[in-house]
Order: sequence, then structure tokens, then C-alpha cells
Amino acid sequence: HKINLKDYQKPSFDVVTVDLDIKLFEAYAQVDSTLQMVRQAAGDLVLFGEDLELLAISMNGDQLAIGDYQQEAGKLTIVNAPDQVTLEIQVRICPQTNTALEGFYMAGSGDDTMFVTQCEPEGFRKITFYPDRPDVLAIFTTRLEADKRYPTLLANGNLVEAGEVADEPSRHYAIWHDPTNKPSYLFACVVADLDVLTDVYTTSEGREVALELYAKSADIDKCNVGMQALKDAMEWDEVNYGRAYDLDRYMIVAVSQFNMGAMENKGLNIFNTACVLSSPETTTDARSFSVKAIIAHEYFHNWTGNRITCRDWFQLCLKEGFTVYRDQSFSADQQSSAVQRIDDVATLRAHQFSEDAGPLAHPVRPESFVEINNFYTTTVYEKGAEIVRMIANTLGPVDFRKGTDEYFRRYDGQAVTVEDFLSALSITDDKIEEFIDWYRQPGTPVVSGHQDYDDAAQTLTITLSQQTRHVSGFEAPKPLPIPVATALFDKDSGDIVAERMLLLDQATQTFVFEGVASDPVVSLLRDFSAPVQLNYDYQDEDLAFLLKHETNGFNRWQVTQMLVNRILLQGQGIKSSPDIYLQALAQTLPALAADDAMLAARLLDIPSAQELASAIHKDYDPELIKAKRDSLYQQVADTLQDQWAELYKKLPMQPYDDSADARGTRALRNIVLDMALTANVKGAVEWAQQQYDNASCMTERFGALKAMVNHQVANASEYLTDFYTRFQANDLVIDLWFSVQASADNVSTDVIQALLEHEDFDWNTPNRVRSVISAFSSQPTVLWTQEGLDIYTSVIKKLDDANPVLASRLLQVLARWNTLAEPRRQMAHDKLVDLQKHAASKHVLESLDSVLKAA
Ligand code: ARG
Ligand code: ZN
Repeated sequence: HKINLKDYQKPSFDVVTVDLDIKLFEAYAQVDSTLQMVRQAAGDLVLFGEDLELLAISMNGDQLAIGDYQQEAGKLTIVNAPDQVTLEIQVRICPQTNTALEGFYMAGSGDDTMFVTQCEPEGFRKITFYPDRPDVLAIFTTRLEADKRYPTLLANGNLVEAGEVADEPSRHYAIWHDPTNKPSYLFACVVADLDVLTDVYTTSEGREVALELYAKSADIDKCNVGMQALKDAMEWDEVNYGRAYDLDRYMIVAVSQFNMGAMENKGLNIFNTACVLSSPETTTDARSFSVKAIIAHEYFHNWTGNRITCRDWFQLCLKEGFTVYRDQSFSADQQSSAVQRIDDVATLRAHQFSEDAGPLAHPVRPESFVEINNFYTTTVYEKGAEIVRMIANTLGPVDFRKGTDEYFRRYDGQAVTVEDFLSALSITDDKIEEFIDWYRQPGTPVVSGHQDYDDAAQTLTITLSQQTRHVSGFEAPKPLPIPVATALFDKDSGDIVAERMLLLDQATQTFVFEGVASDPVVSLLRDFSAPVQLNYDYQDEDLAFLLKHETNGFNRWQVTQMLVNRILLQGQGIKSSPDIYLQALAQTLPALAADDAMLAARLLDIPSAQELASAIHKDYDPELIKAKRDSLYQQVADTLQDQWAELYKKLPMQPYDDSADARGTRALRNIVLDMALTANVKGAVEWAQQQYDNASCMTERFGALKAMVNHQVANASEYLTDFYTRFQANDLVIDLWFSVQASADNVSTDVIQALLEHEDFDWNTPNRVRSVISAFSSQPTVLWTQEGLDIYTSVIKKLDDANPVLASRLLQVLARWNTLAEPRRQMAHDKLVDLQKHAASKHVLESLDSVLKAA
């Protein structure tokens, strides 16, 4: 059943302290809890609980019998509870069979197991009965007890005591106390056998913090990148937001079975191994960079999420949007800020724009949900971050910092709302409150415009208008405040003659620039100043001009993407020939490759088939789009074919080095290699083989392997076998081995089926499932077929019961079925209806319900 934002009510009881005693046994765990509760509003005392076996419950010393409380639909309700309550509750749970990876669960198998928690958003209710909602904050003390086979016993906060269990020499215990008042979704504990990498960080306030990164002993050598990133993030937050860490210990634990990337539990982060482990030999540069970003993201949550948390789950973007904005800013300081912006915008356009254009569109702050797990979306995270960015840019660094200081000053220790956030940020400028509509209104605004130059008056008038589609179930869209960063370029000199931030906050508006000597080329939405789609009446020549003269690397990339979109989506309105694009690339590439290899690599980007599809709203033909895309790629490769050999030689392989330059060289070399293979450049197959054989790191080795697989070079399968044999012991690398095959250009459903039946395939490891299924969904010509959809929907059916969070996320990829040309559209519809008959989880059913509403 649906929960609505407008129905929010304060909890009737506060929890002052909670004492947990978690005893892990061979086949189950027993959880004893003591809650000290105080009434703060009229109403029943409500606890949530799921998949719990209730053994005993007492209130203020008296055992409660059935009849003293009501139990239904995941709730335990005590009516007429007194104002001061001590509840003692005993439950039994079964982490050993918990495949949903929520609550307390076992990861691994056989002799190699560990136990961890995932409580956000509503997993704590699978550990014990509790008022499991983010606006109930309490002080937690946790005792863990287990067999000594599991020497590592961790929970939030400070270690108070540890020792042997009396009369049970094979068992031991540890007691942890967390001094922070926190919601239950930030609770965590770990029972495992892990090694630890330790370090120390001294905060600006002089506090010594012990840093501990826990992993299996075989992985401990892959923890240095994460540890360094943690120290960098701690310092960055002090310098940029004045926020220092508050406890004496910061722990990170790596686990191989995890539904998401990582989790910011107070003082005890739990990470998917894929998001924390990194070494040059086993991890690509792109992955390694995202490890640093995710470490920073979870660390930044300590202030934006943990110390100031969300009043209810509708406010999820309050912590996620702000924290993503913070991790993006951190990453921009670690590499070229242009490349960082390119990567963030590419993700936004590929995934968030698509979500916003389809049946799963929802506001950054949703107004209702059945299952909150379905709303950990790119809209909440990435569009949420874009709103904070617009606010930060509108205020400028000094006033934005005043606003965030005020936010931390006012709300530290509280559970708050998006309105609270905006009100703190508005202290220097109350116009900021108007950004609230960005949180309420779904859909991507389309900004259209044109320019009129008046020679006599020497004025340029830019007319801009905005339009947002009306998403059913929501009010008619209204104009939003859209900052449009603008620069005018003189056509002769190529110089900037004026620069201004235009604020478009009405349906249509004109902006006049005085003293403009000749009709300029206008560069709009610089640095992607707002998450909108831009339709300006450019000539291809204007875009080519900007590719040459724009001073900001992001803007240069943006015009290449506009050119590519015009070429590939022609017939859908705009007509463009590739000549101007190809010529502009040919002129730009040589100098740029020498100057900034990473940016040069990005300029060769052609949006994926999936991303192109997201811009098509009707009669989408996957074969046609793939053919057009392949043909443009071929044209780029052919047009520049004389450059590839020279470029490849100028980008020599060198001993591994983590500098931005070295990473740029590797990124560009991999693309040049693929281009050379595409253009059939003489010797390119040998380059690939040599790059693989002599690789100094995974970026080089995997780049070569991927190119060989995609181009089906003669002995690609031998290289695949070599790769498998070399890295057999490393799950994360074997994930790459699965994904390179499942996402190959020529993949067939037979290959996918074979991968699913491979002995190393594992349904209980989300990373492995995604390495085949998410990889495969990147090939729309295979996905949108009878066999493709049969495989895809059977995977969802299979996971529906075992891991509904994962199943529902995979399902969301099918949301845009309604844009397909017939007969695929009807076929996809029928498969989804069939899936609906078999699905049982509320996660999958809610997603299906929305997805099918598009019919
Ligand atoms: N708060 C985590 C993060 O963004 C994500 C956890 C989401 N977990 C889930 N089951 N939906 O860092
Ligand atoms: Zn987060």
C-alpha cells in the first residue's frame, strides 16, 4: 500500500537508548533488545518488524501476552502505553538464509563466510522490532557474541569491552557504544574473519582518528587506494565545508555480496568490494577513480546524512543530492574539472534524462511510494546533485559556504526536510527558496532559443523559453528557475566578448546584451549550468566554431555531443551531415592529444546505443540506431585513419603510474586502439596483442582485451581464456571477464545463456548477476528480442523472491519499452504482463505497475 508525504506524522515515542545483544549461532541468531522510550505525542506505540520470530516481549518489567499488543502487516502496536516505557524484546532471525541482503545477512559460502548488515532504508526491522524510521534518533550500545572462528566483531562507535564468553571457551564477545544519537538505518555490525589495514588521521581540531579498512586477507593489498582517498576526503571536508570527523575511529569493511555500492553507517561503513578494493594489476583506472569517489561519498555522509539526517524517506535527496554534489566537487579537485563534469553530465543524460522521460519519472522528492527501495534512483541522486549545484552557482562560493555553515549550525543532530535545507541556504538570498519547485516537479525541462542581432543598435537579444512535459498524476508544470551560463564569442577573433549568467525563470524571456560589435556565436549552458535539454537554433558551423574556440573543456565536449546527436537522430527533426563534425575532430585532435589526452579521449565519445535511445520517444528501432551509430563510428575511424598509427606511437606504454597524465594517456590509447581496429589500420591487431601481453596494469590489459573481443580478432577467445586463467582467483576481475563478453558488440542470447550457466556464475552475488545482465542490457538489438526478453524477465522472476531490491532495479531498465516500434513494442508489453503474473514482491510489483502504465 502507498505511503504519502502529506500524511507525515511525528512518532508518538522517542527512543532514548537501545541496548542490543546479538548472539550468532550456527543456524540462527538471537537478538535481545532493551529500548528506553519516552512519549512525545499522543498515539499508539508502534514498532516495525519483518521476518522475525518473536520469542518474548515485556513492558516495564511485565511480560506481554498476545492480546496486550496487535501484530499485523509488519507492525507491532501497543495501545495505551504509559509515557515512560522500557521494552525488552527477544527475537530469533536467520542471517544464514537471508538472500535479500537486507538486515543481518551472511555473505560467502562454505568455510568462507561473514556476516554483515544493510539497514538503509528499512532493514533494521529485519533485525528486531523497532520504531524503524529516520526521525527516531537513539544512542546504541551493541554486544556481539559469536564463535571464535569469527575473530572480527564490529559495531558502530567505540569498543568498550571484549572477551571470552563465560563457560563457553569457543565463543567470544565485544561491546560497542556509539555516543551519537542516530536513526536505526545507520546501525551496522560485522561478524567475520578479516585482516585490517590501519592508519591515523589527525583532524584540524587535533583529534586523532584511527582509520581501519577491513578485508579478507587476500584482498588487504588492495586497500591502499581506498585508505588514501579516505584521508584526502577527511581533509577536503575540513577545508571546503569546515567539517571535521567526530569519533575516535573510522572503519570500512569490504564485502563481496552487496546490493548497492556502499553504505555510510555511523563510523562503520560497509562497502561492496567492487567499490573499495583497487590495485593497478586488477582494477581499471575508471574503477579506481570511482573507488575514491565512493569512499569520499560515504565519508561526506557523516555530516550530510548522519549528523543531519532525513525526517522521512521522501527527503532522501536531502542527504543524497547534497552528498553526490560534494563527492563530485571532491573528484573535480582530484583530476581535470572539465573531465569530471563531462563524466557526471554523461551519466545524467544517459540515465536520468531517460528515467525522467519515461513511466518511472518522479520528482527529486517523491510524494508517494509503495517501496522506498525503488526510489534510490538517478533522479534522487544525480538530479538531486544538480539542484544543489545550481544553488551553489547562483550563490557563488562565499554565500554558498555561509549557507552550508548555517545549515550545519541550525540542524546538527536533527532529522530535517528539503525546506529546512533551502531555508538555511537562503540566508543571503531568499530567491533560493524558489528552487523548491525543482524538487517537486518531474520531467526534464527543454530550453529552446534563438538570437537576434541588431547591427544599428549593436545589441544582441537572446530569447529563451522553457517547457516541461506534463507527467500524469502531477500538477501542470510551471516555469523553474534555470541558470543559463552564457558567453558570446566574436566570430572573427574567436574571443569571448561577454559572459553572463542568465536566469530563465519564466516561460519565455529575452536577454539583451549591449555594445556587441558584430553577430556573435553564443555558447549556452556552459559547464551544464542546469539539468535541461537545450534546443538552440545553431548551425553546424557554429558548433564547429565553438569546438575550436571554447575555453572550457566541458563546453567543447558538449558541442561534439550536440553535433553527434544531430547526425544520429536526424529524421527525428534535425538534419546534419557528418562532414563538419568529422572535419572539426580532425583539426582538433592532434593538438589536444598532446595537450590533454584525457579530454581528447572524451571528445571522441559517441553516445552509447542505450543513451541515444533515451532521446527517442516513439517508434524506436534498435537496429536502425545501432546501424547509424556504427556507421558514424566507422566514419570517424576512417576519416582519421592516418592519425591513429602516429597517435598510438606517441602514447607509449610505460611502467604504471597513477598521475592524471598517465591515466589520460592510457584512456586515449585504448580508444585509439579501438579506432585503429575499426579502420583496419595495418598492424592494429598486433598492437592489441602486444598491449595485452606487455600490459603494466588492468587498464591496458582490459582495454586490449575488450577491443579484441569487440572486433572479433582471430584469437580473441585465446585471450579470453588467458585472462580467465590469470585472474581466476579474483572475483572482481572475473566480473570483468563476464561483462566483456556479455556486452560485446556481437553478443547473442546463446552467449548470455552460456554465461548464466557458467560454473562461476552465482545468483547470490549481485556483482556477478550485474556483470552479465546489466552488461547485456547495453545491447538493445539483443535485449529487445523474444529470446533477449525471455532471458531478462526470467532473471527478474528468479530474483523476485530471493532478492527483490536487485530484481526491481534490473526491471527498471525495461521502462522505455513503450517507445519501441512495433512489433517489438507489443512483444515487450506481453512479456511484462506475463512477468506481472509471476511476480510477488512489492518492489517488483510497484515498478511493473508504473512501467506498464505507459501503455
Ligand atoms: N546510502 C547509500 C549511499 O548512497 C545507499 C544505500 C542504499 N541501499 C539500499 N538498499 N537502497 O551511499
Ligand atoms: Zn549516498
